[in-house]
Amino acid sequence: MIVSPSILAADFSKLGEEIRRVKAAQWLHIDVMDGVFVPNISLGVPIIKAIRRESGQIFDVHLMVERPLRHIKAFVGAGADIISVHAECADDMSILINEIKACGKKAGIVVKPKTKISEIEKYLDDVYMVMVMTVEPGFGGQEMLTDELYKVRELKNLRRDLIVEVDGGVNESTALLCKETGTDVIVAGTAVFKAENAEEKIKFLEAL
Ligand code: DX5
Ligand code: ZN
Repeated sequence: MIVSPSILAADFSKLGEEIRRVKAAQWLHIDVMDGVFVPNISLGVPIIKAIRRESGQIFDVHLMVERPLRHIKAFVGAGADIISVHAECADDMSILINEIKACGKKAGIVVKPKTKISEIEKYLDDVYMVMVMTVEPGFGGQEMLTDELYKVRELKNLRRDLIVEVDGGVNESTALLCKETGTDVIVAGTAVFKAENAEEKIKFLEAL
């Protein structure tokens, strides 16, 4: 599996150093929260632009934003490679997907735990990736809702070559469950950044 360390769990007072600690990972997960779609506010465009200078990784940008459409171009300009928007947000999904793809970037759809795959099925052929949330979005360090992993199989049955990413509560044992269900990419915030040796943790999770 590909590991996408979530910088939400990094020490923001030394972000450059933290990014270098996880450079062994191919992807970097960036959680953008607007305080409306989720109760929390995290980081935005200027921070992404700054860390882009420190990293050649694939920037996997997760927009927990109520109205992401008006901001897509700014995130592209900041250095996003994959932009994922929530099925539950207030903007039109087809317009969002088209906007991300028109900017030459890869589009993803994210589903919260209560959202069914049937609700996004009609978009599956148009996106690069689907992100399955295994916690309620808004905060890092929560326990994985492992019952949600059935969605990975469901998605793979609908489209075999779809990239499926799991976000929330990934650790050494829950990562194994992700692997068993056919997950391609695991987000790991706490598990990687709070590890003494982040590189070892990334390699361990990749090799499962
Ligand atoms: C939650 C975020 C996750 C979070 C994962 O709203 O989308 O990406 O940072 O953190 P851990 O790995 O600590 O559950
Ligand atoms: Zn996330």
